[in-house]
Amino acid sequence: MVTESRTTGEQGFGASPEMSPRLFAELADYIHKTAGIRMPPEKRVMLQSRLQKRMRKLGHQSYASYLRYVFSAEGTRLELQSMIDVVTTNKTDFFREPYHFDYLIEQGLPALVSRFGPKLRFWSAPCSKGHEVYTLAMVLAEYAQRHRGFDFEILGSDLSGYAIDVARRAVYPHREIEPVPMPLRKKYLMRSKDAGEQLVRIVPELRHHTRYMHMNFMDEQYHVGEKFHLIFCRNMLIYFDQETQQQVVNRLARHLHPGGLFLTGHAESLGRIDTPFVSLEPTIYQLPE
Ligand SMILES: C[S@@+](CC[C@H](N)C(=O)[O-])C[C@H]1O[C@@H](n2cnc3c(N)ncnc32)[C@H](O)[C@@H]1O
Repeated sequence: MVTESRTTGEQGFGASPEMSPRLFAELADYIHKTAGIRMPPEKRVMLQSRLQKRMRKLGHQSYASYLRYVFSAEGTRLELQSMIDVVTTNKTDFFREPYHFDYLIEQGLPALVSRFGPKLRFWSAPCSKGHEVYTLAMVLAEYAQRHRGFDFEILGSDLSGYAIDVARRAVYPHREIEPVPMPLRKKYLMRSKDAGEQLVRIVPELRHHTRYMHMNFMDEQYHVGEKFHLIFCRNMLIYFDQETQQQVVNRLARHLHPGGLFLTGHAESLGRIDTPFVSLEPTIYQLPE
């Protein structure tokens, strides 16, 4: 828990944008324990600038005053989630790391269908603002058109409440759909009704295959129902230390059918941690039968 550091001479951020080393250390420790996210000293400037947005909004003049509020009874209810939201990095894209989607079409889906049948469950963990979920939904909907009887559902989950809200709404600025191939845009995106902005919305036919949960992978149990046939775990492990990576990957593995697939981001490897997976290709793993 972060405490106020009255003795460190914490200044209003207008006067001094620096967070005291002690306050930073306490907050970094809290973030690491609560969200798993490493906050080494070189992230201090980034953390400060993200917190400043919230401080300005709520009218706090110092980090100490803001954090005292965050951890008060009222702040825990009203502000803690927003602080966690700004601490998380939600960068994502449609068709990010497209190799995985090519792999699915060419090898992954045919293998999963022949092993498990035509009804498959997918989990985008973490899903951030939903781009990964809807990319997968487009790819799977296309597959379904070519393979009668194929059906799917996708769960998206994330620690950031803000990101989950965006994912549920499924409305995106037009500039973000750049990576979506034109034929898919025409089928699966519609112009949003907002007059001022250039926005698009994912069509209901895709949204009906998706559901979302607010979830912290630092929790011991994930209440996600039936097991999945494929889990995307891309671009989150990179923020965790090795011990946390191992805990989280092993908890996620409990929710995969034997023979199911587990995909990581291209900057992430499970090579140095102990997991039940076998590696099929770099970043593509399988839970043995
Ligand atoms: C960079 S995004 C990756 C999104 C997507 N998988 C992709 O590759 O584009 C990383 C996400 O991990 C989420 N995250 C970080 N720590 C988490 C935790 N302890 N539990 C659940 N989600 C977490 C963040 O909120 C963020 O949205």
